[in-house]
Amino acid sequence: MSTIKVGLLGFGTIGTGVVRVFQNNAQLLRQRLCKNIELVRVADLDVTTDRGVTLDEGILTTDAEAVINDPDIHIVIELIGGYEPAKSFILKAIAAGKHIVTANKALMAVHGREILAAAERQGVSVMFEAAVGGGIPIISAIKENLCANRFSSVLGILNGTCNFILTKMTEEGSDFAPVLKEAQDLGYAEADPTFDIEGVDTAHKIALLGALCFGTTVDFDQVYREGITAISALDIKFAGEMGYKIKLLAIAKNHGDQIEVRVHPTMIPDTYQLAEVDGVFNAVRLTGDFVGPTLLYGSGAGMDATASAVMGDVMAISRDQISGARLRVPVMGYCSEHIKTLQIKSMNDIVSHYYLRFTVLDQPGVLAKIAGCLGDYGISIQSMIQPERHEIDSVPIVLMTHSACEADIMKALEIIEKLDIVSQPTRLIRVENDLG
Ligand code: HSE
Repeated sequence: MSTIKVGLLGFGTIGTGVVRVFQNNAQLLRQRLCKNIELVRVADLDVTTDRGVTLDEGILTTDAEAVINDPDIHIVIELIGGYEPAKSFILKAIAAGKHIVTANKALMAVHGREILAAAERQGVSVMFEAAVGGGIPIISAIKENLCANRFSSVLGILNGTCNFILTKMTEEGSDFAPVLKEAQDLGYAEADPTFDIEGVDTAHKIALLGALCFGTTVDFDQVYREGITAISALDIKFAGEMGYKIKLLAIAKNHGDQIEVRVHPTMIPDTYQLAEVDGVFNAVRLTGDFVGPTLLYGSGAGMDATASAVMGDVMAISRDQISGARLRVPVMGYCSEHIKTLQIKSMNDIVSHYYLRFTVLDQPGVLAKIAGCLGDYGISIQSMIQPERHEIDSVPIVLMTHSACEADIMKALEIIEKLDIVSQPTRLIRVENDLG
């Protein structure tokens, strides 16, 4: 073939970024590929909006099938997002023998197995670097550069919207609601921010990273998920006084026969590099048995950074095409017959340190009662803050526990919450003191 031909489904923000790479860096792409590469068709239902880029006549179409069934096209980029029609289009393109590049984390996390099985049967590649961490090359790091390592953990800040909100709350001492509004006004949060702020987007991403790192299937529905909507300025302030920052952390750990895959607000020591990842930036910490810990940092979203990741995949597939390599890198980084189905540890069984903020009546013996309940379940207190009275008759008591099993914490809290000295529900935030 003299020219690699590419088709694009979805001409939204990232699609526009892809067009910009093709146009601005055309010569560079050729020089790095040693062949011509061309974007020949772009399909989107909206063909009238001005995206600030001009396509040659005949490239833009409303008909996705015209891209999928074009016999000249080698690679189809899917940037529609969501489950349907993206999934059907990808399956049809695979059946038509096209290689696929997608940024669709939700689709890959939930329907990845079906798509990968179809791709394997057809002998085509599916690449999805842009699905996790925007422009950060985390998936190729796992599948290629670091593939000689056994990974013990992968942890990260994987959602720019949440990280922007938590950073602002920390810097300004503000509560969640006004900062979310500011993030929406600035275009960092969607009008319906649910997927981001409830941790769904982060859970999709860590499900993919856990599967890639540990060579296992990860059932997305079993990924524990807690968003940032309940984080208050008060908790951020107390965390700061204890030397911690609160981040929405995605955590996957390998225990051999079981794995942990979870997403929740997490307190991390403010001396950790991850604690310094602020604003819309993302970072992923990977620990391999030979390489040790590594940290990848960069723009986790946005038109240009995400287009960079998409185009990296397009170039990788193009190089394989040119060299005649076929499925050089397995889609999930392991030969499919070696992909395991490891059990995801129940949250009851995880072991962590815990930040607990009780709201109690300011009376003698209250602290002793709480400490007694915790002690009954073998939970040891590491440190404590009891600030000046905040509200009439009600005062916060903030405890940091030593390492404890989550089931014991929950049982102790159930009893504490029933005490008549407790005036509001207790806030619990898990603490990650050992990144592995
Ligand atoms: N909405 C995501 C974020 C970017 O805020 O990081 C796309 O995954």
